[in-house]
Amino acid sequence: MKRLKQQQPLLLLLLLTLYFCGAAPLNTRSDTRIVGGQEAAAGAWPWQAQLVIQGGLCGGSLINSQWVLSAAHCFKSTSTSGVTVYLGLQSLTSSANVVSRSAAQIIVHPDYNSNTNDNDVALVQLFSAVTFTNYVRPVCLAADGSVFPSGLDCWVTGWGTLSYVRGQSDTLQEVDVPIVSNSQCSASYSTLTNNMLCAGLTNGGKDSCQGDSGGPLVTKNGTVWVQAGVVSYGNGCAQPGYPGVYARISNYQTWINSQVSGEQPGYISFQGAAAAARPLAASLLAVPTLSLALLLS
Ligand SMILES: *[C@@H]1O[C@H](CO)[C@@H](O)[C@H](O)[C@H]1NC(C)=O
Repeated sequence: MKRLKQQQPLLLLLLLTLYFCGAAPLNTRSDTRIVGGQEAAAGAWPWQAQLVIQGGLCGGSLINSQWVLSAAHCFKSTSTSGVTVYLGLQSLTSSANVVSRSAAQIIVHPDYNSNTNDNDVALVQLFSAVTFTNYVRPVCLAADGSVFPSGLDCWVTGWGTLSYVRGQSDTLQEVDVPIVSNSQCSASYSTLTNNMLCAGLTNGGKDSCQGDSGGPLVTKNGTVWVQAGVVSYGNGCAQPGYPGVYARISNYQTWINSQVSGEQPGYISFQGAAAAARPLAASLLAVPTLSLALLLS
């Protein structure tokens, strides 16, 4: 009896963490800054989706069990024919942990402007819900009013040409890029709007590129990963003085919630300070412990 009691919180904790957004239990090396893009470990970015759209490729992110967030410019139409979403994919040469779904619905933001790329967001409803595993899990979205300061370290992932020295990749690539303020970024892009967010190095060399479109730009607080942007556009890739431009997720909480059926995605308010690396155990316990206390009270 005593033993059971001791195990109960642990079991509950396991169950809870399984359903929380923004957890990547298999992401072990993202606290280290790296130079240029590198191959991601299996399960490091469990919300990463690959969208095959009538033969073309885009990225996306899983935001709950049945919806994927991507970019509006990935879709020439809202026809679901020839659209397949792959989750849990790491290498195009391995089907281990991979789950695929056809699309039930494609929703492009009604105010998407293909000339300026304003409101470059789209939602894809999967034909049926997926079960979360360590390789397939939802990301948290940046809540309304979130602040991503200049210099904040973020990560972008995709199968496109993330680094200027690499071609299209068979393995998911990851690269860390700092946030560039909108005031600085608008010097490079005259049509930059408040619905956009920039990230990249002043000297270039690290960026998202073709094929990464629609994929997530994430940062973290403790061990919780929060999506700040959707890969949208850029002038070339990793060109000095031209950061990558992303759709600013925190401006779309109301719209996303109005479109997504079923359970709502998880939102995290990210407020400014650079995400510091914390001891794993401490931060892993922080959020679930609160809910545990409520559950057990
Ligand atoms: C990180 O999370 C903690 C605890 O919820 C919060 O107090 C803090 O403001 C968060 N940091 C950022 C940068 O949002």
